Amino acid sequence: MSFILEARNLKKSFDGVVALSDASFTLNQGEICGLVGANGSGKTTFARIISGLIKPDAGQLYLYGSQINLKSHLEAEKLAISMVHQNLSLVPEMTVWENINLGREIITPLGILKKEEALIRAEAAIQELKVNISLYDKVSQLAPSDQQLLEIVKALSRNPKILILDEPTASLGFKQVEILFEKLIQLKKDQVSVIFISHRIWEITRICDRLVAFRNGKTVGEVDFQQQPREERIIIPLITGKKENEDEKGIHEKRPYRNFDTRQVILEVDSLSKRDKLHNISFKIREGEVIGLGGLNGQGQEEILFILSGYLRKTSGKIKINNQEIIIKNPSQAIERGIFLVPGDRQKEGLFLNHNVFTNLVYPQVAQKKQKFILPLKELRQTVNTTIQKISLVPPDPRKLVSHLSGGNQQKVVIGKWLSLSPRILLLNDPTKGVDIETRKNLYKIIADLSNQGVSVLLYASDNEELIANCDRVLIVFEGQIVEEICGDRICEENLIASSLRVQ
Ligand SMILES: Nc1ncnc2c1ncn2[C@@H]1O[C@H](COP(=O)(O)OP(=O)(O)OP(=O)(O)O)[C@@H](O)[C@H]1O
Ligand SMILES: [Mg+2]
Repeated sequence: MSFILEARNLKKSFDGVVALSDASFTLNQGEICGLVGANGSGKTTFARIISGLIKPDAGQLYLYGSQINLKSHLEAEKLAISMVHQNLSLVPEMTVWENINLGREIITPLGILKKEEALIRAEAAIQELKVNISLYDKVSQLAPSDQQLLEIVKALSRNPKILILDEPTASLGFKQVEILFEKLIQLKKDQVSVIFISHRIWEITRICDRLVAFRNGKTVGEVDFQQQPREERIIIPLITGKKENEDEKGIHEKRPYRNFDTRQVILEVDSLSKRDKLHNISFKIREGEVIGLGGLNGQGQEEILFILSGYLRKTSGKIKINNQEIIIKNPSQAIERGIFLVPGDRQKEGLFLNHNVFTNLVYPQVAQKKQKFILPLKELRQTVNTTIQKISLVPPDPRKLVSHLSGGNQQKVVIGKWLSLSPRILLLNDPTKGVDIETRKNLYKIIADLSNQGVSVLLYASDNEELIANCDRVLIVFEGQIVEEICGDRICEENLIASSLRVQ
């Protein structure tokens, strides 16, 4: 059978760092092929090569059996190759309709932009994915999940024959993922070929016909689901390179039920409201308890975290720590009280991209201890090295510029920043977005350890599996209100979905 696309033995290095050492890949017409691999294994680099953004140092590319040499992104677009970027390619200061039409503006012979036609095209594109946004909204004002959907809409509006999706679901909730999957199945019927990159293995087993795995820049295997079962136990060893350990628990196994009734209440939130966003939110977290915030995306979960961490002001309501009312006007007041937030949007909230890993990792410690003048460098170096190990950073180099790390490794640095501090209450805002399975496992262990040490955790996750694996209780948020509390053994995919959708 001839492939629609074939890559043979691709190599690519960046300033001596090998991103791809021997990557080969094939794609059939009308199939969805998964591309899996740990953070830093070369997936994005590969995707950027086949969409013409960067050139390989060696290796060959074939399209419909003929060798091609892509000179630019535009050339790839002309060949109907379209990419949904991991770090999104939208222009934040432009509107939705302008972004969809970017680079494909319809111009009259006199050089005047045909705005009406551009608007019609943009509207049609948005309808395809049922995205609920206005054409006139500025991209910077959209929620991260809407930005991600818009990025997908933009790629689809180019009518690709080959569509590359680089972690399109990392910031999407399950309902949005369903809409995307419906669309992908329809594209498949229309003979479009899709490369689907994701760290969520259950998405790969659900939607893909086949998968290819990369490890350290090399193709290490392929699974054809027509011949092999759609099972994690076959895929995970390909990603990690480790043999499957029969005794080891699955990563998303439910943690055993724990009763916290006799433990001290650490944080109490009483009738918290924020105009138009939150209405009378009340809950308690006891010492060592891990509480999840569930529900569809964008129901107010992030606002709860932002108010508790001082990034957003409440309109009314009380926050108490150890039964004493406290006022949190800004992030440093929250930090002083031991409330730390691990942010979700690594680019905007979490990192100094143009500084190295070391600076990013020590910043919160230095800021907290106010040791601005005499830095205990030796000690800091040691902590940084321990943190790098804990988060399994690739490459494990404190001098590496954060902007040069792969997406998932950047998110690991965001998590790592808070590990060397001693929180009393840890707020996690969708912490494993784009993080690979090995690090995810480490993070779940870190959460469990902190909880055993008495730290209380409030976790928002767009991924229900993450809530199931970590939480003692899950509060379902719907339109700014807590509509249900799910405890212990009742925390399962079915109950979480039913409650999020308000199905009784
Ligand atoms: N512009 C760059 N400069 C320096 N190094 C880079 C650059 N782009 C990628 N790398 C390095 O190449 C390797 C592969 O990165 P790539 O982004 O392709 O990984 P990935 O598989 O997409 O990972 P993730 O799952 O985290 O997104 C990483 O070690 C990364 O640090
Ligand atoms: Mg990537």
